[in-house]
Amino acid sequence: MGMKGISLVLILLGSNLVSGGSFDRNCVPCHRHEKVSLRKTFMNALLVYSGEKNMKAGLRYFLKHPSRDTSVMGDEFFRTHSIKRPSELSDAELDEALDEYWERYKVIGNLE
Ligand code: HEC
Repeated sequence: MGMKGISLVLILLGSNLVSGGSFDRNCVPCHRHEKVSLRKTFMNALLVYSGEKNMKAGLRYFLKHPSRDTSVMGDEFFRTHSIKRPSELSDAELDEALDEYWERYKVIGNLE
């Protein structure tokens, strides 16, 4: 590979690191700000929804229609936190984010 090839690879790598995927752009900043651990929410969701397909579908609905009644966080949590506001992401962005979320944290489910 020539110099041109190498710099192209570096540019692609760099832009990917800066912009991140849908999950890093649309989920991580607010969770950091609100101090709600995405690992913890994943664990709870994994316990409540069974399997990848169910979990993604359940969370997809919840993120658009958050409600204490359907939340996986439990009553105790809502003594100190309020319910999130409904997501305004497009379905495509939401699905991309949930796929990335699953890929990043699914290993937790294997640590039994
Ligand atoms: C504007 C802030 C904000 C954004 C953006 C946000 N979240 Fe959250 N999220 C919260 C807060 C606050 C809670 C805890 C309260 C609740 O469950 O509603 C939460 C709860 C959750 C839960 C627990 C679900 C449940 O049943 O309570 C999951 C899983 C989750 N978020 C994943 C995501 C993912 C994935 C994204 C990106 C698509 C995202 N969040 C975007 C603030 C946010």
